[in-house]
Amino acid sequence: MGLLDGKVVVITGAGGGIGREYALAMAKEGAAIVVNDLGGARDGTGGGSAMADLVVDEVKGLGAEGVANYDNVASVEGGEGILKTALQAFGRVDCVINNAGILRDKSFSNTTEELWDPVIAVHLKGTYCVTRPIFNHMKESGSGGVVINTSSTSGLNGNFGQCNYGAAKAGIAGFTRCLAIEGKKYGIRCFILAPAALTRLTEDLPGFNAEAMKEKMAPELISPLLTFLASDLSKDMTGNTFFCGGGRIAEMKVVTTPGITKHEEGGMWTPEEVAEAMKPGGILMSEN
Ligand code: NAI
Repeated sequence: MGLLDGKVVVITGAGGGIGREYALAMAKEGAAIVVNDLGGARDGTGGGSAMADLVVDEVKGLGAEGVANYDNVASVEGGEGILKTALQAFGRVDCVINNAGILRDKSFSNTTEELWDPVIAVHLKGTYCVTRPIFNHMKESGSGGVVINTSSTSGLNGNFGQCNYGAAKAGIAGFTRCLAIEGKKYGIRCFILAPAALTRLTEDLPGFNAEAMKEKMAPELISPLLTFLASDLSKDMTGNTFFCGGGRIAEMKVVTTPGITKHEEGGMWTPEEVAEAMKPGGILMSEN
């Protein structure tokens, strides 16, 4: 008996890195896997079928069912194509993990349109393009489902040289929080993940010294959380954001502090009062 017996899981960008680990871990738990991957380079250029095909072979080698899809997540047709592949092969989708991603890092003043648009397209638009047909399929099927969208600490906390990527990743988080609210009445549960792992995407980023990090930040360490979220073990949860990497799982939250409400003068602060309250140890900052 596997935790995901009978479930069909779509994983975008599953031809390598973290996505491949999800595919293998979930196949071991009995899921049928749709392995989507465009098969391009780290910056999104190029393409091919080899990456997805290899992972499908690995999934089948574990005794599970798998099918490859090579669509580009960044187009509406690509998203519809992924659902079509899933329905043709397995007749349903129970979980989608939007994981495909690229990087085109530069400090903001050097971020050209060629560095901005593809990153927003693959991450933010791609998450929309893939999720919409699958969400509607889950809604119409009446049996609900799970949507797991990949954000990043770069978007949720900020990171140097990643304004394009951070914008897309924060957008994905906002999108998913709204979708979690809409999905509730259809039993569609939505989660946000901020992973951290050593992959081709991170191997030369500051702070990721490849050799020292190899075991500590292995991508397979993220899979148990995702398997839990995709399974009925998490059936009472939705809308959460999790950091996961290096063996650590932590819930991330956007926090609004109680703040200070001015009751006099119709609630109108003067800028000088705001400045006073903002001083270290001032009444506003001490609430934060
Ligand atoms: P990766 O580069 O190994 O995997 C990404 C996969 O997405 C690749 O196999 C690539 O071919 C595929 N892909 C790219 N564009 C695509 C498109 N348009 N359509 C279909 N497939 C496409 O990178 P990694 O590290 O496994 O990243 C997975 C996800 O996790 C990404 O969304 C990334 O932004 C995110 N992430 C990773 C972190 C890390 O520490 N590795 C940190 C924060 C977020």
